[in-house]
Amino acid sequence: MKESILKILEELETQSALEKSRKVNIIPENRMLAITKETGELLNMILRLKKAKNVLEIGMSVGYSTIWCAEAIIEQKGKIITIEQNPEKIKRAKENFQKAEISENVTIKQGMAIEILTELSVQQQNNNFFDFVFIDADKESVTKYFDLIYPMVTIGGIIITDNMLYPEKYRQEMKKFSEYIRSNPNVRTTTSPIGNGEEITIKIK
Ligand SMILES: C[S@@+](CC[C@H](N)C(=O)[O-])C[C@H]1O[C@@H](n2cnc3c(N)ncnc32)[C@H](O)[C@@H]1O
Repeated sequence: MKESILKILEELETQSALEKSRKVNIIPENRMLAITKETGELLNMILRLKKAKNVLEIGMSVGYSTIWCAEAIIEQKGKIITIEQNPEKIKRAKENFQKAEISENVTIKQGMAIEILTELSVQQQNNNFFDFVFIDADKESVTKYFDLIYPMVTIGGIIITDNMLYPEKYRQEMKKFSEYIRSNPNVRTTTSPIGNGEEITIKIK
């Protein structure tokens, strides 16, 4: 792994550990709420196996998961579109991408995910376009995000959704989401206990 990427991932892991320990007082809107390192490794590995080139992320925060994704695709000049509503987090993410030297591979879309996904989905060129999608924004809208994303994913494309098992307050909602995906005969899906629980879904038709 490039030194610049390794360094920023380690910095963000330290910040995330501090945040989780509640030793620092960060206002809730500015918390990173980042994926675990194991989830980062999982995303990175699947992206590499897939040789993914067109990635979509919903819920960037300060860019920890984005950097894990970018690391897997930069060699083949892959691109990531990532969505975030919080301007303060976007500012921090931009700095992090510069330090990691991945800014050229990342396009940040600022705003509400539903609106941005709707805009992306009306653009003809985005049909069957993304070969990898990571969903990690507000949990209430996860089914809506999935429905908007689905036509934009290639056959064989992967959709990963975080927080299937933790925090526990979302578990019922995420279980319903998993059942909803399972009712679609055109996908295969599995709930993995890695990190906070990752739903790994592949579009087969
Ligand atoms: C769990 S955090 C993402 C963490 C990030 N994926 C990582 O691992 O580094 C969720 C992020 O989604 C953003 N978010 C929540 N609801 C959103 C919405 N409706 N539209 C856009 N962004 C949203 C929040 O501001 C927050 O930064």
